[in-house]
Amino acid sequence: MWRTLRSVLRLRRRARTRAERLRAQAVNIAELRRLAQRRLPRGVFNYIDGGAEDEVTLRANGAAFRRWNFAPRVLTDVSQVDTSTTLLGRRLPLPLVLAPVGFSRMADPDGELAVARAAARAQLPYSLSTVATRSIEEVAQAGGTLWFQLYVLRDRGLVKELVQRAAAAGYQALMPTVDIPVSGRRERDVRHGFTLPPQLGLGTIVDGLRHPGWTWRFVRSEPIVFSNVRGRSPADGTTPVALADYIGSQFDPSVTWRDLERLRGLWPGALVLKGIQTVADARLAADHGCDAIVLSNHGGRQLDGAPPILDLVAPAVDAVGERVAVICDGGVRRGGDLVKALALGAHACMAGRAYLYGLGAGGEAGVDYALSLLAEEMARTMALLGCRTVAQLGREHLTRA
Ligand code: GLV
Repeated sequence: MWRTLRSVLRLRRRARTRAERLRAQAVNIAELRRLAQRRLPRGVFNYIDGGAEDEVTLRANGAAFRRWNFAPRVLTDVSQVDTSTTLLGRRLPLPLVLAPVGFSRMADPDGELAVARAAARAQLPYSLSTVATRSIEEVAQAGGTLWFQLYVLRDRGLVKELVQRAAAAGYQALMPTVDIPVSGRRERDVRHGFTLPPQLGLGTIVDGLRHPGWTWRFVRSEPIVFSNVRGRSPADGTTPVALADYIGSQFDPSVTWRDLERLRGLWPGALVLKGIQTVADARLAADHGCDAIVLSNHGGRQLDGAPPILDLVAPAVDAVGERVAVICDGGVRRGGDLVKALALGAHACMAGRAYLYGLGAGGEAGVDYALSLLAEEMARTMALLGCRTVAQLGREHLTRA
């Protein structure tokens, strides 16, 4: 009897799709994070999960959402809730942009391509990182709305080429990221001697043996390199490099607003400036012809002690919200977080780790699942809050916790 029972259970298990398995294992982003932690080698997980120094800003980004309570209204007919919004002239089903994350192939062999495909299915913009492990042109195959995140490299000829390639491949927006003149010190990575791509050593071998599924996929897939700068940069991932060394040797810390003006001249599409952390800089970005700003401290990975992003939303929107779209990036783990940021005036949010945990936990299906969780949670939160549309969300829907 036990044998029959076991084979029935086995058959049922096999019939389940990967997506169903994920649904059974994780009911929210925090649980997808725990799954990713189990599935990925420690160094890879810590690279994704970690922040700078004491990780004060990393934690503060999330804690800022918990300092607001909702003020729900009742008897408002929420039989139809619409979470859609318009950002940079495009209608999105959800006020969410997938943040650029470098080296995504460490979480899953398809990496950025898997994320771009999931974003296209969800009809949400995906931003590809300069230090991606799939190229501008490869990711363009995924279709959908694509943004290109630009680090201003010392080699300005290469920067110009990247911008031209993104334009030729049909990317909608260029997103210079300016919170990283030098690398923040990610102490988890320093402690474990983490390099990109991961380097073979006793520690990584032991870690790899403890995660045979990841190791098998990693050794069978083509080597991980910085696809956008392959062959154009001495550190293009063909030899392992510590992230801080890569940034120190390739990124240009002398960048100023003058460079932004040059980029404005080079780029015909929407210009989105990422890494704004003060109202003064939000104003300067608007004065320099940006179409949108991303309030961001790089997910707590750069200046530890930088302000939690949600706290900047209302002051920045009050200062520039009529002139540029304001995007809130940092700490989003729930659909309710999207609602809070929008109630404070943000036009959209950006999230990186939220989908990356999905990628690490279940590959492309994991990204689909993470996005669907945020969408379902946002719709449910709006209904419980008594709001039918994003336009109805306002500061009156929040009280200080
Ligand atoms: C790179 O931009 C990183 O934050 O790791």
